[in-house]
Amino acid sequence: MSTSKIGYAQTHPVFGNREANLEKVKSIVTSNTDADLLVFPELGTSGYEYATRSEIARVAEPLKDGVTSRLLLELAKTHDTILIIGYPELHEDEIYNSAMLVEPDGTIHNYRKLHLFSREQNLFDPGDAEPPVIETRIGCIGMMICFDWVFPETARLLGLKGAQLIAHPSNLVLQYCQKAMYARSVENRVFSITCNRIGTEKSSDRSLTFTGASQILSPKGEVLCNAPSDEEHVAIVEVNLTDADNKWITPENSIFEDRRIDHYGRLLKELDVKNNL
Ligand code: ACM
Repeated sequence: MSTSKIGYAQTHPVFGNREANLEKVKSIVTSNTDADLLVFPELGTSGYEYATRSEIARVAEPLKDGVTSRLLLELAKTHDTILIIGYPELHEDEIYNSAMLVEPDGTIHNYRKLHLFSREQNLFDPGDAEPPVIETRIGCIGMMICFDWVFPETARLLGLKGAQLIAHPSNLVLQYCQKAMYARSVENRVFSITCNRIGTEKSSDRSLTFTGASQILSPKGEVLCNAPSDEEHVAIVEVNLTDADNKWITPENSIFEDRRIDHYGRLLKELDVKNNL
């Protein structure tokens, strides 16, 4: 079975300066040409702490023919690497917190964050489609963004759709996501790459410090590499993504086949589970 080199680039995006941020992306990709896949943070092109929708609209861009996708297409092709980065997406009148996946053959895929965190709800439109699993030449890559981690349904859906690896661009501010991603990896038996950012951003009434500690986890929850909380860091590990195809915890227990879906139906209904309605 062939192996792949998968990695993250934990960066410190400069607020509002797409040019500087893309320059950093270019320099990282150019100096890590052995990677088959590199994941960059959520909103890696723009920074995070925007106060208003009109402020973020100024740095938002379309997926197709945007400055970011044009550069990533060129880098992916030149260096033969799959690239993923979060960016504010402008689509007609909507603005999404999105991540693009760009392949060396020129194919582009997109995911619009479903679960918006805190004040993101004032800035972005919520995602309007299922998170995708993309069949790439290195394996099946599922996409989710940051706060999606707290909804296990997101990672489960990606696992059920055949993801071998979950790419998870993030701007984490809570301390415990990295631990929770252990569960997301183990309960779906998938690799995961949480690519977080570092640094502090301030608005008029709050200051957010991003927690770094990006990590790559195996389907059994092993930490294959991780980053410091306060420094930029690039790491690449060699894995066999087909390790994620084995869903058997014991010879008798498959995490997917043993599900009792006949008893889970209420999870998908808008009802008052607590009051047993
Ligand atoms: C987050 O979803 N950026 C915490």
